[in-house]
Amino acid sequence: MHLLDRLEIYLFHRTRLKKWRGRNAKILGWSDETAQSKRFQAIATATNFNDRSVLDLGCGFGDLFRYLDEIYTLDSYTGIDQHRPFIQTTKKRFAQHHLDPSTKTASHFIWGDFSQMTLKPHDIVVASGSLNYRSRNDDYLSSVINQMYQAADKVLIFNLLNADVFPPQPLLVSYNKQAIYRYCKLQCDDVSLIDDYAEEDFTIVMRKPVVQCNLY
Ligand SMILES: C[S@@+](CC[C@H](N)C(=O)[O-])C[C@H]1O[C@@H](n2cnc3c(N)ncnc32)[C@H](O)[C@@H]1O
Repeated sequence: MHLLDRLEIYLFHRTRLKKWRGRNAKILGWSDETAQSKRFQAIATATNFNDRSVLDLGCGFGDLFRYLDEIYTLDSYTGIDQHRPFIQTTKKRFAQHHLDPSTKTASHFIWGDFSQMTLKPHDIVVASGSLNYRSRNDDYLSSVINQMYQAADKVLIFNLLNADVFPPQPLLVSYNKQAIYRYCKLQCDDVSLIDDYAEEDFTIVMRKPVVQCNLY
């Protein structure tokens, strides 16, 4: 991600951190908790997360971890976010299950720009809300989709704002869902478009073929 894009996103979240207390979904940029949880529901029902390692890109306060952990028995969960205060809060929240003893899964939170990282392979890679920021680099979204798809051993799930409904804004950008679907189809045979949970959003699911091991 371009340094200036990163700075703009940083300032956006810093302003919101001053405005709202605790782990309010508005700090993350959501209009409210319902907008956030509708997206989580679409993600959680898109595939079976049981016994899967999960990589969450742009994890915010780790709310998706909490959501999935209540429904599934995950193998492990790793969240990455470039906003340091979010990662600090999230690490405290889930540190050794100390402050939030109800989670079942071992979790790990990393500070940094995921688009600049070599991502370790995980069964399922997820990005909710983290690809909605405008980029100076025209190829940002396509290169991140490729990067995420490479890191996903089984399934990649991400959501984007829907250009049919969501007008362009200085910080946020929306996309034509059919164009994104077609782009993903170029790389993956099994792609689903989920667009029945919120007018302003859609979710893409890319499933990798199961590799058959022939032992002889
Ligand atoms: C709208 S918030 C959503 C947070 C979380 N996924 C949720 O749904 O609660 C998007 C998050 O993505 C993070 N983000 C965006 N681009 C990123 C990048 N390239 N690397 C790391 N974090 C990123 C932002 O810092 C922000 O915390």
